[in-house]
Amino acid sequence: MDGSQSGAVQRNACFPIACVLPTSSCMSDLTLNPDQLARSVIPTGADPFALFDEWFAAAKDSEPYDPNAVALATANADGAPSARMVLLKEHGPDDAPVKVGGGGFTFYTNAESRKGEEIRSNSSASMLFHWKSQRRQIRIEGRLYEVTPERADAYFHSRPFKSQVGSAASDQSRPMAQRDDYLDRVEALRAKYESAGKVPRPVHWTGFTLVPHTIEFWMDRDNRLHDRRLFTRMADGGWSDTLLYP
Ligand SMILES: Cc1cc2nc3c(=O)[nH]c(=O)nc-3n(C[C@H](O)[C@H](O)[C@H](O)COP(=O)(O)O)c2cc1C
Repeated sequence: MDGSQSGAVQRNACFPIACVLPTSSCMSDLTLNPDQLARSVIPTGADPFALFDEWFAAAKDSEPYDPNAVALATANADGAPSARMVLLKEHGPDDAPVKVGGGGFTFYTNAESRKGEEIRSNSSASMLFHWKSQRRQIRIEGRLYEVTPERADAYFHSRPFKSQVGSAASDQSRPMAQRDDYLDRVEALRAKYESAGKVPRPVHWTGFTLVPHTIEFWMDRDNRLHDRRLFTRMADGGWSDTLLYP
């Protein structure tokens, strides 16, 4: 295990700008260090959920904001892609519908949004984490499954009252004539439910779990000789893994 495995930020002295075009001051950086580069430091045979946890924990220590922010890519029925950020709220080897199993990665959203419509017509999706402070990315591909209403209720009501109001008042992704329309709805919901301290969860406000068939780990290595390992779910539920050229 090298320093970058433990979460330390490694940088070339000249990275990233000066070495785009090598100059004499950067030439020493282009000398390959066989000791450092000969082996992959992303372990073969690893449990990708455990490895995810290791990298996620390092990101929580070093990212200034939202280490759980993740780009979610979906596609419509014609295959046209779209991407947006969401927040990963739950994950792990047990985080998947019982019938499906295999573990997963869960976010919450409005199912009547653009992404919700796309998920309904095409459940294939991809998540991409990029932790700049760690110079690492994790790419996850699989199928999305909606969480149970009980789980959506529990998560919705774990949020602060004002967040519940904001979500319930939003017709996410649909056109809004003027911002005051939204603020009026917020105020009406706040007044109606303030004494109860919680807002009923709109049925379309729910969560989705990405159950992966592949998880790829990428980490920066010197001189752009980066390290990539792809984990693929096997029929018996285990994982196989292979290195990929960067
Ligand atoms: C850092 C970050 C985190 C976000 N988290 C969420 C989230 O967890 N759920 C959500 O519905 N939208 C979240 N958003 C807003 C989405 O990126 C997006 O604007 C919204 O979900 C509508 O997307 P859609 O039109 O593709 O459905 C987040 C945005 C950012 C920048």
